Amino acid sequence: MSKIQFLDTTLRDGEQSPGVNLNRFEKLEIARQLEALGVDIIEAGFAASSEGDFLGVQEIARQIRSVSISSLSRAKDSDIRTAWDALKKAAEPRLHIFLATSDIHMKHKLNLTRSEVLETAKHCVQLAKSFFPKVQISAEDACRSDRAFLAEFVETAIQAGADVINIPDTVGYINPSEYYDLFKFLQENVPSYDKAIFSCHCHDDLGMAVANSLAAIQAGVEQVECTVNGIGERAGNAALEEIAVALHIREDVYRKNTNLRLHEITKTSELVSRLTGMVVQKNKAIVGSNAFAHESGIHQDGVLKEPTTYEIIPPALIGLSTNSLVLGKHSGRHAFTDRLNGLGYEFSTEIINEAFIQFKALTDKKKDITDEDLMRIISKWSDKE
Ligand code: KIV
Ligand code: ZN
Repeated sequence: MSKIQFLDTTLRDGEQSPGVNLNRFEKLEIARQLEALGVDIIEAGFAASSEGDFLGVQEIARQIRSVSISSLSRAKDSDIRTAWDALKKAAEPRLHIFLATSDIHMKHKLNLTRSEVLETAKHCVQLAKSFFPKVQISAEDACRSDRAFLAEFVETAIQAGADVINIPDTVGYINPSEYYDLFKFLQENVPSYDKAIFSCHCHDDLGMAVANSLAAIQAGVEQVECTVNGIGERAGNAALEEIAVALHIREDVYRKNTNLRLHEITKTSELVSRLTGMVVQKNKAIVGSNAFAHESGIHQDGVLKEPTTYEIIPPALIGLSTNSLVLGKHSGRHAFTDRLNGLGYEFSTEIINEAFIQFKALTDKKKDITDEDLMRIISKWSDKE
């Protein structure tokens, strides 16, 4: 089984989430946790973008020794040199240059012709290779680029020495089958395709970032770029935890290994949420607080008899101690009794029946039934014990 490399860009694209601003100490704390999680590459920031980002990238490069550390860079000599200054002490430094290839970006943003873009890519990759052992280039807005031109750009970059080619869906526009086809097209139309590692990088504007990333993996990419909790520019990036767990749980489909320690996922998610202030939505896959909570009586009964009836992911896989059976109006007798047992009470069937009626009556008035509510309900029997 081949391996997928995880490039985590929580500290760069993730930090581009509106309202997020991490100082270098917070960045280092997250980087240490990403190292514990086992990501292969940390995109630590965009060294040329600010003094703070430069220092953050530099500090991470000095302290985190078992992971490759990358900085983003525009296709500009000065950015490349600044990134090298920040990264030269890294154990495994790498540079990530981005340059747009779509007509919209080349015309309105860069004001460059296609041949000027090819020249710039060639020059920047060659310059970067004179400093960095590993150079990645991204064809920004690749998914809205003319395919033949994109193939020409990729071939130029590989010929110039690029080690990794990233094909980002910068604006979250593509769908899974189109993204799959795009990689197949590049495999067939880039003569030097086999000389580089191909990478995917997806945004979630249409809610397809994770599905697109998985489609790219099925098409043969060897590197996936993502962020913890899916934070990032606009609607965010593909969520690391969703891709990682999907690869693991559906290994029958994807047939890929990773270096990730999945049991670090919950801790990583909580840290990123706390330091960025980006609250994880309750029903978010894998790391939302409801992701392992069961409310309906039928589901609770099933899970108590055999967890796999309604749980495809064992909570321990991502570092959770247990699932949770939420007591509410859909809950049944089995979960109710189980909770009382968990609180240390064992009652006769008659008492359980009567207490259950009172519990059900309360669920019509109150959404979440707490242990304190249960204690009140059973007090007339528990007090006698
Ligand atoms: O979304 C994007 O295109 C990017 C590039 C810088 C890779 O984040
Ligand atoms: Zn991005």
